[in-house]
Amino acid sequence: MLQQQLLDDLALANTHELVENVRIKYLGRKGLITNLAKETDFSKLSADEKKDFGQKLNELKNFATEKLQEAAERVAATATPVNKRLFDLTIPGSHRAFGAMHPISMVQLELEAIFEGMGFTVLDSPEADTEYSNFESLNVPADHPARDMQDTFWLTNGMVLRTHTSSNQVRALKRFGAPFRGIFPGRCFRYEAIDPSHENTFFQCEGLMVDENISVAHLIGVMKTLLGEVFKRDVKVRLRPGFFPFVEPGFELDLNCLFCEGSGCPTCKQSGWIELIPCGLVHPVVLEHGEIDAKRYSGFAFGLGLTRLAMMKYGIRDIRYFNSGDVRVLEQFAPVL
Ligand code: PHE
Repeated sequence: MLQQQLLDDLALANTHELVENVRIKYLGRKGLITNLAKETDFSKLSADEKKDFGQKLNELKNFATEKLQEAAERVAATATPVNKRLFDLTIPGSHRAFGAMHPISMVQLELEAIFEGMGFTVLDSPEADTEYSNFESLNVPADHPARDMQDTFWLTNGMVLRTHTSSNQVRALKRFGAPFRGIFPGRCFRYEAIDPSHENTFFQCEGLMVDENISVAHLIGVMKTLLGEVFKRDVKVRLRPGFFPFVEPGFELDLNCLFCEGSGCPTCKQSGWIELIPCGLVHPVVLEHGEIDAKRYSGFAFGLGLTRLAMMKYGIRDIRYFNSGDVRVLEQFAPVL
């Protein structure tokens, strides 16, 4: 009976530890077999009976030892070798991919920090806006080509997807009054055919500063500080006349080409300059729409191309990567750990 019980126990013992437990249960100091000898009162047994008992006990011990040995060998043969275990601590750690910020977001956050350092407020503004905000308030006449169906996404309710962040100028002036310093970064839309340098969806960062005696000198000063911080070096800029109905005078601010330092290369189309920031002094009509006294206050505005700036900063040659949703592009901006 004890034999069968031992065999049943060993059948379930599939590790060295369990086999050892079985050994202790039967052959240990207080084991079931060991106890047989202890519990027997030999004084009551005859010499023959003692001999017989001793013989049986020995057989039982040998049987148990033999079966335990077999079980130990069985376990050793089937045990998983160290290098095949579920957890192999010698395998090098696996790489975990980290998310990455979109390059436009990175440039936007950088701009926000720079402008906040110069006392500008960062304002959010609607992507779908009224015809008034996007055009009329900005002195864009009804027959201006920019209002054409060709250039603008009109919504069925008569609103537009803003074609530029200037759409927030008058709203901001009405809300905050003068003096005012703010930027409005955001997504803009134009009905354009897409190619390596044109997108129908792109980002701008509008800037607006209104105070007493604001002149072109302030505009240039702020632009140079900004570009110097973005590109981490002293930059040369120049102003060319440019026309926008909401500024007077209006300019195109060009950046001395950072790739060739002005000597001419494919990026600047051999001109030495890169057209970067349309800007100008706020047109008095716009100030009036913003309920600002145009005799007392003047201001400058600029419409920095955020997408363009990101292309320059990161050397991205094709604008279509930005909205492609291709993670292989974004992965290249993930932090290296
Ligand atoms: N809103 C103009 C554009 O998108 C740029 C601009 C902004 C020009 C502010 C002058 C002043 O083209």
